[in-house]
Amino acid sequence: MTQHQRLLIIDFGSQVTQLIARRLRELNVFCEIRPYQTVTEATIREMAPKAVILSGGPDSVTREGSPRAPQALFGMGLPIFGICYGQQVMMEQLGGKVEAGHHAEYGRAYVAPAAAHKSDGIFAGLFGTADGREQVWMSHGDRVTELAPGFEVIGTSPNAPFAITADEARGFYAVQFHPEVHHTPNGAQMLANFIKMAGFTGDWTMGAYRAEAIAKIREQVGTDHVICGLSGGVDSSVTAILLHEAIGDQLTCVFVDHGLLRLNEAEEVKKMFSENYNIKLIAADESDLFIGALEGVSDPEVKRKTIGKLFIDVFQKYANEIKDAKFLAQGTLYPDVIESVSFSGGPSVTIKSHHNVGGLPEKMGLKLVEPLRALFKDEVRALGRELGLPQSFIGRHPFPGPGLAIRCPGEITREKLEILRKADAVYIDQIRKHGLYDEIWQAFVAILPVKTVGVMGDGRTYDYACALRAVTSVDGMTADYYPFTHEFLGETATRIINEVKGINRCTYDITSKPPGTIEWE
Ligand code: XMP
Repeated sequence: MTQHQRLLIIDFGSQVTQLIARRLRELNVFCEIRPYQTVTEATIREMAPKAVILSGGPDSVTREGSPRAPQALFGMGLPIFGICYGQQVMMEQLGGKVEAGHHAEYGRAYVAPAAAHKSDGIFAGLFGTADGREQVWMSHGDRVTELAPGFEVIGTSPNAPFAITADEARGFYAVQFHPEVHHTPNGAQMLANFIKMAGFTGDWTMGAYRAEAIAKIREQVGTDHVICGLSGGVDSSVTAILLHEAIGDQLTCVFVDHGLLRLNEAEEVKKMFSENYNIKLIAADESDLFIGALEGVSDPEVKRKTIGKLFIDVFQKYANEIKDAKFLAQGTLYPDVIESVSFSGGPSVTIKSHHNVGGLPEKMGLKLVEPLRALFKDEVRALGRELGLPQSFIGRHPFPGPGLAIRCPGEITREKLEILRKADAVYIDQIRKHGLYDEIWQAFVAILPVKTVGVMGDGRTYDYACALRAVTSVDGMTADYYPFTHEFLGETATRIINEVKGINRCTYDITSKPPGTIEWE
């Protein structure tokens, strides 16, 4: 089995630690983020990284009991790169000094080359601007006031005299700013230089990942049977296809049509899996059960909980039919894994009860197979491409588990769902026709719980109003509304009202997230 070269990121809790991983993955370097509390000398030896990055973090090294790296790390002969809090940890642990407060610096700053500056090695490509300064993004309260022995200053900023420091003999680099963010234009270059210097060859490719994941699945599953729930979304589809490639007939997929899918969606999913991939598929039409339970329900949380509970019951019923199943495959992604071990994750407010199959594996006595656990969303898409999934499928907008139920504020009725499906199809058709689909994170129609008066062909109408929603986002956590032209909006409203019986008014939702959420419920 292939073994990737690895880089360890010790996470001290920065808001942007994930971006370090993103930058490295873009360089075809496999890295893992581990919270500092879980990293010991033994875990480092076991992981055997080729280099280590110490992330930023909210604490102050001057505070007693604040986070540290294992002291042994500095004697292992590994190249180390410290960022912000990571720099301060290095200085503190290696014999330098850090002072608290009074030097706060947030946002854009400029780093000028120090007398001893270099422009090769990890500094290649830096300080090449007209005035020789580098734009960087700072976010710190404390600062280093005395370098650890062996370090020299490479660059300084007005508030951070030790903005870039290095002990090249040991391969130790430490910077006060954040090279991983977009607002440090040459930051990615610096990380690339560090990677090169540490001897990484860029062996983390989707081709390699695919081969490795397949070998791992075979080893984990042996001759046992695996069940995989399909939702029609990218994550579960890629999971299923990867598993199929690894274990063929030992996989059975279960696709539950809860009657809350988009126009023709159930047919498309069934066709794609049974015709193109010859995967064993149980397609269960349970729409009557779900809609029956939801009819007349208007509370968003009751809707979500009803769907979640029924889904688990139904899934279990079909899964029980599959003999000898020992595993349940899930499309868990890396951000979910990181969040679940995050040490900043205190008790947070539940905004919405998200729909997933949580709790099911224990209830059914199944072990989990999660072949996408190491991947970010865009990497899942890249793996999907590698596996030959059509682009039309890979590029699809996310669709929530509870489906159209949460796009139907107020009471759910079959009639409203039918109208909504049609309006949504026209809206998406418009977006595709105008070549905007890939620029938008998610677009959909919500049917409003209100009827309004209109006039069509000299007659009075009294029909539903709908809201169009389209947002841009990187991860669904924050979002902004998409700035369609008035021409586009006008044309789309006309088409929806003309083509969809039951709607006589269209509005466009221009709320960002926060304060809104992407879905209406
Ligand atoms: P909100 O509405 O919370 O949505 O801003 C953020 C993203 O999550 C999707 N979403 C869900 N996805 N199960 C899912 O699988 C759910 O219960 C669920 N609720 C919201 C939503 O479509 C958006 O992409």
